[in-house]
Amino acid sequence: MAGEQLLKVQGVETYYGNIRALAGIDVEVKKGEIVSLIGANGAGKSTLMMTICGSPQARTGSIIFDGQDITKLPTHEIARLRIAQSPEGRRIFPRMTVLENLQMGAGLDNLKYFDDDVEKIFVMFPRLKERQSQRGGTLSGGEQQMLSIGRALMARPKLLLLDEPSLGLAPLIVKGIFEAIKLLNEKEGLTVFLVEQNAFAALKLSHRAYVLVNGKVTMSGSGKELLANPEVRAAYLEGGRH
Ligand SMILES: Nc1ncnc2c1ncn2[C@@H]1O[C@H](COP(=O)(O)OP(=O)(O)OP(=O)(O)O)[C@@H](O)[C@H]1O
Ligand SMILES: [Mg+2]
Repeated sequence: MAGEQLLKVQGVETYYGNIRALAGIDVEVKKGEIVSLIGANGAGKSTLMMTICGSPQARTGSIIFDGQDITKLPTHEIARLRIAQSPEGRRIFPRMTVLENLQMGAGLDNLKYFDDDVEKIFVMFPRLKERQSQRGGTLSGGEQQMLSIGRALMARPKLLLLDEPSLGLAPLIVKGIFEAIKLLNEKEGLTVFLVEQNAFAALKLSHRAYVLVNGKVTMSGSGKELLANPEVRAAYLEGGRH
């Protein structure tokens, strides 16, 4: 149901060796929301996504997903709770075909829905249908991003984590991908937690957003509020991609 809490990250600290990448993060995502996390290179955005997925694990703090404490669960158990991730850099399987990549996303749990779910992905991204027998590694950057998102969706996620879906893509492709995310949210009620350096596009799409600086949340608010905020504008929007 809309408005109910789906993800609660509380006081999370994550380290790489002795280096603290997340310095006590509080973030919340409610069912049916699109929430984005914006911030500069190295702010810790990907680290937060990966920490939610259990690798690396949070050293302190807690992560509650759908009422369950997942802080110390191994990655595969977190994935089975239906948190799906489209990681930074896409990480599709380059030697597998488009269809095989989608099969990997579905896993054994969702094979019975496979035909219907693939059809939905193909309606959303017709390019993937045309290229279904082609190897992932031969796709363009935009097509690989579509495949990465499609593969994550095949897991029938309750929460979709997207790390920089716009990275390295032409503006028109970015627009198409953001429209697809919006549609999934509006039509299917999909909950999305999005990491982006393209702050303008992310804030426009999001119900709420957080600004991350050096491993700490420094600001949060509705997408509209942050778009209008002078500090956000100066740091992330002036001269940016809008
Ligand atoms: N595997 C790693 N080992 C050591 N330090 C790391 C590792 N991965 C990331 N870091 C460091 O942790 C900090 C946060 O990195 P992270 O990748 O989470 O940032 P980001 O906000 O996603 O940046 P970007 O916008 O460049 O993707 C950075 O200082 C980075 O150098
Ligand atoms: Mg990153």
